Amino acid sequence: MSEITITIDGQEVQTQEGEYILNAARANGIYIPAICYLTRCSPTLACRICLVEADGKQVYACNAKAKAGMQISTSTETIVSERRAIMEVYDVNHPLECGVCDQSGECELQNYTLEIGVDAQTYAIKDTFKPVQNWGLINYDPALCIMCERCTTVCKDMIGDSALSTKPRGGDNIDEAFKASMPKDAYAMWNKLNKSLIQPNAGDTLDCTDCGECTSVCPVGALVSADFQYTSNAWELKQVPATCSHCSAGCQIQYDVKHASIDNPEPKIYRVKNEWNYVSLCGAGRYGYDFQNEVEGKDEAAFARAVEAFEKADAISFTSQITNEEALMLQKLKETRGYKLINDEARRFAEFMKSYSAISGTTTYKTPLKEVNKANFVISVGSAIKTDNPNARFAMNNSMIMNKGAGLYFHPVADPVIDDMGKNILSVNHAPMQEEAVMYLILDLFAKKDALPSAITDYLASFHSTKTITVTETIKEKVIEIVKEKKVNEETGEEEEVEVEKSKMVPKKVDKEVEVDDNRLLTIVNVPKDFEASMEKLLNKKDTFALIVGPDFYSHPNAANLARLVALVEKYTEFSVTMIPEKGNTLGVAMICDLDAEAGSYTVGYNVKGDFTLSAQGSGDLDMPAMNQQEGTLTSIQLRVNPTNAAVPYHGYELNDIANALGVSAKNAIDYTARLGQIAGFKSENFDDLPNYYTNKGEEMRGYELTITEAATAGDESVAAFDETAAMKESVVYLANPTLQFNDFTNKSHQLHEEAALYVSSDYAAANELSDGVKVSVETAKGSLELNVKIDTKIGGNIPFLPSFDSNLNSEALFSGYRFSNVSIKKV
Ligand code: SF4
Ligand code: SF4
Ligand code: FES
Repeated sequence: MSEITITIDGQEVQTQEGEYILNAARANGIYIPAICYLTRCSPTLACRICLVEADGKQVYACNAKAKAGMQISTSTETIVSERRAIMEVYDVNHPLECGVCDQSGECELQNYTLEIGVDAQTYAIKDTFKPVQNWGLINYDPALCIMCERCTTVCKDMIGDSALSTKPRGGDNIDEAFKASMPKDAYAMWNKLNKSLIQPNAGDTLDCTDCGECTSVCPVGALVSADFQYTSNAWELKQVPATCSHCSAGCQIQYDVKHASIDNPEPKIYRVKNEWNYVSLCGAGRYGYDFQNEVEGKDEAAFARAVEAFEKADAISFTSQITNEEALMLQKLKETRGYKLINDEARRFAEFMKSYSAISGTTTYKTPLKEVNKANFVISVGSAIKTDNPNARFAMNNSMIMNKGAGLYFHPVADPVIDDMGKNILSVNHAPMQEEAVMYLILDLFAKKDALPSAITDYLASFHSTKTITVTETIKEKVIEIVKEKKVNEETGEEEEVEVEKSKMVPKKVDKEVEVDDNRLLTIVNVPKDFEASMEKLLNKKDTFALIVGPDFYSHPNAANLARLVALVEKYTEFSVTMIPEKGNTLGVAMICDLDAEAGSYTVGYNVKGDFTLSAQGSGDLDMPAMNQQEGTLTSIQLRVNPTNAAVPYHGYELNDIANALGVSAKNAIDYTARLGQIAGFKSENFDDLPNYYTNKGEEMRGYELTITEAATAGDESVAAFDETAAMKESVVYLANPTLQFNDFTNKSHQLHEEAALYVSSDYAAANELSDGVKVSVETAKGSLELNVKIDTKIGGNIPFLPSFDSNLNSEALFSGYRFSNVSIKKV
């Protein structure tokens, strides 16, 4: 797209050729009313209020594209009267319940009605009774619904669930007389509105991944959080900008906070909101917010014991649910006091990035997730993407819808949610331990073969052979037929019937033997039938390629080889590479801390059981603040360092108090924010100077971007062959969480709490005669545990999920690092 100049209301503005007029105006601070349009989604033309005049013609700003030299007026007399009529229509029969409506104070219907000055009502239609519906975490009030279709649009274009659709509204038709008397866009909008309502595709309730994004984008009080409803007016809530810490997406969130109750002035989080134009949350981010550790005050005795434990300890074990500042404190403690720092999950990621850097030449991956949204061919490998990082799924889906994209999803566990994203994503369910074969296949399909190291080209060639197959062809064959014709006998002059020969071409099917390429890699990774033909279609007109690499790779027994293969794909194909850090701040921890593989003899655990345990869950020897009680920064999959703030107070001791007692001193934890500049890739920025907003252009101004630093390459691009016999074929279990759960903190929140179970697909349950609540023993070579079965309609195939979100289960202990394990599952 080239830069062009257009004129809006006399003001010259720069934009890109083909950009929607609405976005061009917004990016330049020019206001055009718009209700149904969602940035990052397709225009639906449901509201028509964005009407403008462009080069003398009326167009809708949300779907008309800017052309060089275009002259645009946003408010001619006709447009102003159309807009007013549209708002009048929206107000027809809208219940007068603003006083108790959840959206009051932040309602777009209220705002536009006042702004456009609707002070009388010209239109009318008989109303119908439309009862409120409960859809689990969400309530829908059809009487308040203005049919802007933002909910259906965001669910389809951004989230990928397509769980909502429209249904007939019922009731009277609009009086025909209005057609002649009212402005035509307002009449057309009213007709559309009057035809439909919203309904879940599954029937009476929602069957989706429960992200709640539909409630977030709803401009009125029609779709609301069932839990939040009637608990607060919008204007009573204080907004605390923060970063969600549950996964590595680092989504922008805002905690809405006010006093807990009339007799309790302590701040309480009532809900989480997001900048839905630029960020989409998953349900864990939206509903898993009240996980704070409430303590009365400083427990001096416990603190003294903690300092004593640190004096005695030779190791600190911790998770990646900590801030960058805490990670730096731990690193400083290591440097001054020689502790081993134990965090296997982050260490494996750091080692993976190190192996990758030996070929890629950079210390981290280089491409933030947001680039996936811009691609039109996306491959995901090594991740149960919808639960490892929901935003990675949203990005993949969004590229599919907005860029007419396509993609491949390689994973051992069948995922109905991915399959429902549309036929342009092809799922390939390979066997666990065949991830290297997948990477070789990607090289085989996409690498420039003559540029690849010759050993790899030869290795790939070894999987190819020719085979003879029989194909049926249709050929045209000449046939002679005898037809009877009438002719005049020259002698007799009489007409008579004679037989004549006529030739004609007829189609004929013939079998033919042909030699074709036989790529054994396709069989090894178990591609679906007609894969090659499907790929030809999927790759048609694709020119921007993105590869998402997930955590299955980092803990793989051959992780180093996989990392090198990933770097080779990046170097010799057109794919950019984004890696999913496994936990909230894995990337930050992996970059900041020098992590050890060997355990210590006396360990202090931080949110991990140790000989002495610091716990933000309130279950250890000394309490710590949870992430919603801390200031600091988190490093995200977007290669950004994002600030987060304390939503609720914490009255106890923090890690910084312990560090101070041990001689690593700073007044506040956020004094470490500027000190992060000592670590390659980070900057020396003061916490209070970090920005936290999005511009009207959609630029993310949150914290700062990491600097990608160079790493030495040895020039050695060799990779090992893979072991086909290592494929795990039967009785396998996968270490992964169900949707809405990531860790003890999501599970502590009151809306998401659930008993951890063995999550199985309906097919698995049927084949093994299991049902919800049946107790089973899950046994691997490393140990066993007992838990109940839960049928999860969001997983498919025959590999159950053993979750890690409840640390009391200690399910990781059943695995040898790699997320798949052979298993025996028996009813108890
Ligand atoms: S909660 Fe999310 S997935 Fe479910 S209907 Fe709403 S937008 Fe779609
Ligand atoms: S429920 Fe809300 S977002 Fe959905 S169509 Fe109605 S008003 Fe629009
Ligand atoms: S915003 Fe353009 S038609 Fe609704």
